[in-house]
Amino acid sequence: MSGSDVTTLVEAATAARLNAQADYSGFMVGAALETADGRIVTGCNIENASYSLTICAERVALVKALSEGDRHFTRIAVVADTASPTPPCGPCRQLLWEYCGDIDVILANLDGPSGTHRLSDLLPLPFDGRLLK
Ligand code: THU
Repeated sequence: MSGSDVTTLVEAATAARLNAQADYSGFMVGAALETADGRIVTGCNIENASYSLTICAERVALVKALSEGDRHFTRIAVVADTASPTPPCGPCRQLLWEYCGDIDVILANLDGPSGTHRLSDLLPLPFDGRLLK
């Protein structure tokens, strides 16, 4: 199970946020995905001049983890510099659901965590691979 506490995970996401490539929006986001064996894989948002090819911090963390062989996940922390917590966008919810299942999503700003949500609450009635069988 998890070796990290919430503070450690949020700190990792906060540090990753500083690597954001967000010159177009100015909106920097960090994410830290915890694997079932306690590893932390971080991500930040990566923007580009065509705008639509932007990759969110959550998806960067997820694809990094998958590409390194991780398949089981417990939690993800998302950090942005907003008064209200920044929740994952719709496409990120879909991908997190497919690859991580019903994990905890910890939302935080630069003052620290503000709440934890189950992914199933953020993505009710999901479309996923079970429906394709
Ligand atoms: N963004 C994320 O990285 N994660 C979120 O949860 C919300 C939005 C990024 C995408 C884009 O680079 C910027 O924030 C503004 O939408």
